[in-house]
Amino acid sequence: MSLSIFLEEGDEVILTDPTYLGYSEVIKFYNAKAIYITQDPDTGYQPNLEELKEKITKRTKLIIINSPENPTGRIIKEDIAKAIVEIAKDKKIFVVVDEAYKHIVYEGKNTYISKYGKDVVISVCSFSKEASIPGFRLGYVCANKEIVSVIEKVKQFITLCSNMPAQLILLNYLASEAKDRYLNEYVIPTYKKRRDFMAKMLKQYLPEAKFKIPEGAFYIFADFSPYIKNKNVEELADDILNKVNVVVIPGSYFGKSGSNYFRLTFVSENENRIEEGLKRLAKYFNLI
Ligand SMILES: Cc1ncc(COP(=O)(O)O)c(C=O)c1O
Repeated sequence: MSLSIFLEEGDEVILTDPTYLGYSEVIKFYNAKAIYITQDPDTGYQPNLEELKEKITKRTKLIIINSPENPTGRIIKEDIAKAIVEIAKDKKIFVVVDEAYKHIVYEGKNTYISKYGKDVVISVCSFSKEASIPGFRLGYVCANKEIVSVIEKVKQFITLCSNMPAQLILLNYLASEAKDRYLNEYVIPTYKKRRDFMAKMLKQYLPEAKFKIPEGAFYIFADFSPYIKNKNVEELADDILNKVNVVVIPGSYFGKSGSNYFRLTFVSENENRIEEGLKRLAKYFNLI
């Protein structure tokens, strides 16, 4: 909905490569064009600001930043966030920040880009991850009043409203102490343990896969180049599923830079299952 209020045919939106796969499809839906800027693993997947400045044209309407990011787990650095907002103000474009994983952070805190310019930042938030309720379809947007009032109209024409039982359940949850307890006592410690375990097992069973420990979200985005050997990752992911019953998401779905990567997730499986999955992957690549 945030994109729908800006985009017309021929408009441009700056995306990072890699990033969440949902944005480019919405951009295509409005006959607009995604323009990519690189995020190098060596910079901890921070967006390249020089490229950002170069790629903004008269048709650029938005830049989309996801922090913590799916698939890389990267949290945008404060100085980079500030610089992005300054560039946006200077070029008169808006920054859409997807904060779906803002509470799923293992070290430190998420960076809230809106603090550098509330008028030009649209924060898109979700209860799916923080309360583990993706099926409820509830989220919210924080932006300046004018933008919120237009999004409100779009929302009315698309779904009229969000479903009431889900809203009431969530209201009770938010009004109690359950939210903090759930996040601090269950979600973060559990996911963090699984993240560290998955990293350890990856090193043990697939030692040549290269990856960064994610700061947030619940994925490991790993470079499998030595095992993939220039094969097509999408075909390979299908073959892995068919032969060893393990789901890996092809990195190419998240951008060109992911064409030798797989995205693995540690959100929903316990340690035994994580080890079993990685063992099967190692078997698939004839390592054990
Ligand atoms: C970065 C990111 N944004 C948005 C979504 C979708 O969230 P929601 O369930 O609120 O539609 C996802 C889901 O995986 C995601 O990873």
